[in-house]
Amino acid sequence: MRPKSETENSAGVKAGIILAIETSCDETAVAILDGDELRAHEVFSQVESHRDYGGVVPEVASRNHLAILPALLERATARVPVSEIDTFAATGGPGLASSLLVGNSVAKGLALGAGKPFLAINHLEGHLLSAFFPDPSGANENERAIPAHVGLIASGGHTLLVNVRATGDYEILGRTRDDAAGEAFDKVAKLIGLGYPGGPEIERMAAEGDGARFDLPRSMLDSRDLNFSFSGLKTAVRYLLPKIDLNDRQTLHDLCASFQQAVIDVLREKSLAALRSTGRQLLALSGGVACNEALRKNLAVTCAQQRVDFRVAPPWLTTDNAAMIAFAAQRRRENGLSSSLASEIDPNLALA
Ligand code: KG4
Ligand code: ZN
Repeated sequence: MRPKSETENSAGVKAGIILAIETSCDETAVAILDGDELRAHEVFSQVESHRDYGGVVPEVASRNHLAILPALLERATARVPVSEIDTFAATGGPGLASSLLVGNSVAKGLALGAGKPFLAINHLEGHLLSAFFPDPSGANENERAIPAHVGLIASGGHTLLVNVRATGDYEILGRTRDDAAGEAFDKVAKLIGLGYPGGPEIERMAAEGDGARFDLPRSMLDSRDLNFSFSGLKTAVRYLLPKIDLNDRQTLHDLCASFQQAVIDVLREKSLAALRSTGRQLLALSGGVACNEALRKNLAVTCAQQRVDFRVAPPWLTTDNAAMIAFAAQRRRENGLSSSLASEIDPNLALA
């Protein structure tokens, strides 16, 4: 369902130059997208401020957004002045309320001052469409319409399988019942004494490990639906810990590799089931977990074997950033979708 404030214009509106702000969680980001050219791309990761807590502290995040955003805007608008911007966009949800408010208020203020349209973008739509972001090599230059496909979003907050019919036309096929895939990486990393965020740490350790050494559960593979569950996997790791010696480096490597393989197997099998049930011929992977090289490779090989196309954005576009928000705003504008200055942020905003 679309947000109430959204109005539909005639399709085919030229999006012009878009300035987008992303502040839904702990990345502060600004991007300026001009057609297929990304003219500004600023991301400040607050990870150092949250590392000691092992997770994101909302109050700290929103204060940091407020402190950092002006400098990022200054850098971005030194490349493209505000007077040249045609549309202002910000993530409207889902995310942390106090963080969303910062980016939204600033983008709305800029739109109001410039007398230009404002667009609230769903963070998940940003991830979902990121796999179709214009390739700087010009490889997908003429691809204006987002093709129908199955999208797998695997991030720190969400694990979703989506039937994408077109821009703005989405059907949720499956979701996690408990932890998101990225959350599982973060929680398991914490359990075994690795740093935050856990995904990159586990991937680094897994590179020298044997993924078949520990037999960890692949939850819900026989559930006959397209939902996920990762909390059982985390619990299985917890029960294993007293029985193994993590001071032995190889054991730590093998545990990381075995955990990572279990997550990959579940994501792959559910994605294949979603492709089968929809008859789609294209799988697109997005979200922070899509940085994981082993996952990218595994899905690419599987899709090739199944004669299905596979798309994934480069890693810098899969973790939180404003380029993906600008791109979703561009595609929505081109499809005649806009939102009003009165639109409110929604920490629980749904994709469909
Ligand atoms: O999309 P994202 O930046 O933020 C959310 O919207 O949640 O995703 C962050 C998540 C974290 O849980 C992080 O551990 C995970 O993505 N992540 C990874 C990797 N890099 C980031 N997970 C597995 N392997 C990675 N290389
Ligand atoms: Zn995200």
